[in-house]
Parts: sequence; structure tokens; C-alpha cells
Amino acid sequence: MPLSSVYAPEFARLAEIHPMTELEKLFVVELPHGRSLGHQPGQFVMLSIPGVGGAPISISSSPSRSNGRFELCVRRVGDVTKALHAMSPGGLVGIRGPFGNGFPIEQMRGKDVLFAPGGLGLAPLRSLINQVLDERKDFGRVIILYGARRPAELLFREELDQWAKRQDVEFHVTVDRGDETWKGNIGVITTLFPKVTVDPHNTIAVTCGPPIMYRFVLIEMLGKGIPESQIYLSLERRMKCGVGKCGHCQINALYCCKEGPVFSYAQIKNVPEAL
Ligand SMILES: Cc1cc2nc3c(=O)[nH]c(=O)nc-3n(C[C@H](O)[C@H](O)[C@H](O)COP(=O)(O)OP(=O)(O)OC[C@H]3O[C@@H](n4cnc5c(N)ncnc54)[C@H](O)[C@@H]3O)c2cc1C
Ligand code: FES
Repeated sequence: MPLSSVYAPEFARLAEIHPMTELEKLFVVELPHGRSLGHQPGQFVMLSIPGVGGAPISISSSPSRSNGRFELCVRRVGDVTKALHAMSPGGLVGIRGPFGNGFPIEQMRGKDVLFAPGGLGLAPLRSLINQVLDERKDFGRVIILYGARRPAELLFREELDQWAKRQDVEFHVTVDRGDETWKGNIGVITTLFPKVTVDPHNTIAVTCGPPIMYRFVLIEMLGKGIPESQIYLSLERRMKCGVGKCGHCQINALYCCKEGPVFSYAQIKNVPEAL
């Protein structure tokens, strides 16, 4: 395939746009002719805006809830995301993908699953969580430990409320700093780990969030005896092609866009600069 065609996007329509927090919006995207994206939880797309540039964005909706559309939860941080936030429903964006390996959902079947998203890390994990909930009988315990900096930064509030109400989900949420409305746990995400016991060998743990969080969450997961090969995390690197050609996302010999972005801790613990 010539390199130029690797970068050729398909134009997709922003069907709906929902403000979520001060910095995040949810974009519901439709490919032409109602075509399904055909993604797996944990994969991402390369989103581009003509004349501005492109950025990798995780697919936040689960394949089980696709209906010919997919959802992207995007934080406004730089050129591309600012331009995207300024768009209106009906606008067109370039989409390439889905790319990356995604979470190992097949390995999780029959096992207990422990999800530990932090902040915007809930965006990719929500895809996996909702897929697991839609196939609930295939999994053991479902434990979700979610942390955000402030109550106003909690994402997907309605879904969090639904998870909290379910008898078959053990849901705990915390914020680093509370406010007058907040009645729940205050403290960083690691303060939630003592609230749950796990059967370590029967548990697959998945975390996604800011890199600084990984160091501390990994200590908690390993401290519970969960084997390194059963702990998964999603890594963020600057990306351009998304398909293992340009080298932008390389971490030593690993191509984050192709072999990742999801890695087990066992895979990356000895890779310098991975964490
Ligand atoms: C696999 C993957 C999945 C992702 N999923 C999501 C998602 O679901 N939602 C989401 O909101 N984001 C996601 N991201 C992050 C997103 O791709 C980045 O925030 C992206 O850079 C935004 O593009 P931008 O042009 O808006 O911002 P940029 O202009 O790239 O700026 C982003 C930030 O990086 C800084 N920066 C810019 N250039 C450099 C540089 N050369 N070196 C260091 N720092 C620099 C800027 O100051 C700014 O703070 C994901 C990233 C990856 C790799
Ligand atoms: S983004 Fe080009 S090789 Fe990974």
C-alpha cells in the first residue's frame, strides 16, 4: 500500500454532540451509508480535521451498542480537539481505523474483572465495561473503581449512577477533592482498593488513566496478588499513521499503535520509558 493511502481518511458525520464537563464533549459519529466501524473495545481511530491535523481518539462506545454509530469522548487540549469542540452536529471529520489491538476480552470470559479507570481513562474503558455488562453472564464479578479529580470532572454521570444501582456490579467512585454537593469518597483512586477483596488468580485487572496514576494503581493490583500477566493498561503516545509505518509512537521496539495501545504489565515492565 502506498504511504499516501495509509493517510487517506473516510469522511464521517457528527450526528450528535453532547457537552459532558468543562473540557470534555461526547461526539456521536456516523460513517457513510450506515456502515459499522467494526471495532473492539480498547481500539482507537485517527480523527482528522482538514487544514488542522489529526489525533488518535479511543472509541468510547461498545460494539454491543453500536447501531451504525460510535462515540468519542474528547478533551479539549490542543489544535485538533479545539477545532472539533467548535464544530456543530452535521459537520464532517476524517476517520481512519479502527486501529490497535484492544483489550483481551476473550481472556476475560469466565473470570472476575477489575476495572480501574482514572479521569479521561474512563473513555476507552467504558467501551469494554459496557460490552462486559451486555454479556454479563459470561463474566464473574465485575468490580469498577473510578477516580476523578473533582465531582465536576466525573464523566458519563448517568451510566455511573446505573452501575452504582446494579446488584451485579461492585462500583466505587472517588474524587481527589470534594465540593458541597459531594457525599462520597474523597481521596485518590488507590483509596478505593482496600474496599474490595479479590481472588487474584481468577481476576483480570484493567486500568487506564494518566501515566502518573499507573505507578500507584499497579502497586495496589500487584499487592492484591494479581499476576503481572493478568494486569492490562493502555498507553498513550504521539501518533501519526496509526498503522506501524511512521515510528512516531515507538517505545523501544514496540509500536504502540499496532502492538498496543493495550499491553499487559508483564509485557512492558522491563521496557525502558514504557511507564
Ligand atoms: C491511543 C490513544 C487514545 C486516545 N484517546 C483519547 C480520547 O479518547 N479522548 C481524548 O480526549 N484524547 C485521547 N487521546 C489523546 C489525544 O490524542 C491527544 O490529546 C492529542 O494530542 C490531541 O490533539 P490536539 O491537536 O488537540 O492537541 P495537541 O496540539 O497535540 O496538544 C495536546 C497537548 O500536548 C501538548 N503538546 C503538543 N505538542 C507537544 C509535543 N511535541 N511534545 C509534548 N507535548 C506536546 C500540548 O501543549 C497539549 O497540552 C488518545 C491518545 C492515544 C495515543
Ligand atoms: S503511529 Fe506511526 S508507527 Fe505508530
